[in-house]
Amino acid sequence: MRILSGIQPSGPLHIGNYFGMMKPSIQLQEQGEAFYFIANYHSMTSIFDANTRREYSERNALDFLACGLDPEKAVLFMQSDVPEHVELSWILSSICPMGLLERCHSYKDKIAKGISPNHGLFAYPVLMAADILIYDSDVVPVGQDQKQHLEVTRDLAIKFNQTYGETFVVPEPRIQEGIARIPGLDGEKMSASYNNTIYIFGDEKEMRKRVMSIVMDSRSREEPKPDAEQNNAIQILRHLVSDEEYQEELGKLSEGGYGYGDLKKKLFECYWTYFEPARKRRAELEANLDYVRDILRKGAEKAREIASKVNKRARIASGLE
Ligand code: TRP
Repeated sequence: MRILSGIQPSGPLHIGNYFGMMKPSIQLQEQGEAFYFIANYHSMTSIFDANTRREYSERNALDFLACGLDPEKAVLFMQSDVPEHVELSWILSSICPMGLLERCHSYKDKIAKGISPNHGLFAYPVLMAADILIYDSDVVPVGQDQKQHLEVTRDLAIKFNQTYGETFVVPEPRIQEGIARIPGLDGEKMSASYNNTIYIFGDEKEMRKRVMSIVMDSRSREEPKPDAEQNNAIQILRHLVSDEEYQEELGKLSEGGYGYGDLKKKLFECYWTYFEPARKRRAELEANLDYVRDILRKGAEKAREIASKVNKRARIASGLE
């Protein structure tokens, strides 16, 4: 079984990335041949500063390793070290109906949030399809928000196969059951482009401030809150604690006499201890950046070996060779 996923370096990684994509990916590395990459080509659709991209890309790789990606088990690489992704993206673009992209929510959402529309942003799902198909990927662990992009990928694989003959594996999405979308501070999906995130490795004071700023309703401490499972803070907390602890918090909230300030304090403490071991590993890695760069270099070699073969298959099938 081949597993593939990517993460876009559009800022420091946040706990939405962690629970949506990184944690399931790290678990899956035990179960097959795993390829994980930093999607720096994708970041070009929304970041326009070279040093920012370089910095986020390297930091994201570091974060992923610190969180438990094991380079002995999974291949970690930088997307742009395998330029075949872009060639395949063009090949797929040319069989991709406009309507398929026009229907994509993530494009419309980003525009609605004030991100300026460029062609890369519109064509984003085609590059993502190339990322996936170029490794003959069987399963793709991603967050709920990427579901539509995986449907586009499947459609493009099928369309290419119909047009030019059996070439690509049609991949299965692996969206973790029970991982609803992680709300950001404002209740929207947690996302670097929405500036509503809690970083995995943030500064303690700053992250505490962010947690305390999570948007809640205006009910007082005393008031019972029978709909306690609805609020933004508890929806984040439930991923950080055991089910028992989660139920306990729900109970206190619905009884009354337990306020949102109390809940947020609890949330911050749980968040901070949850990532304590990863924080230690991250500090070690940060002191040894050459080791991280070496992992990326070796990862790119392994990835490119497969990508160039599959890309060649597509070139031959479509008459480029
Ligand atoms: N679009 C994904 C996200 O924003 C990142 C990504 C790019 C990806 N290419 C991919 C994920 C291929 C899985 C497979 O989270």
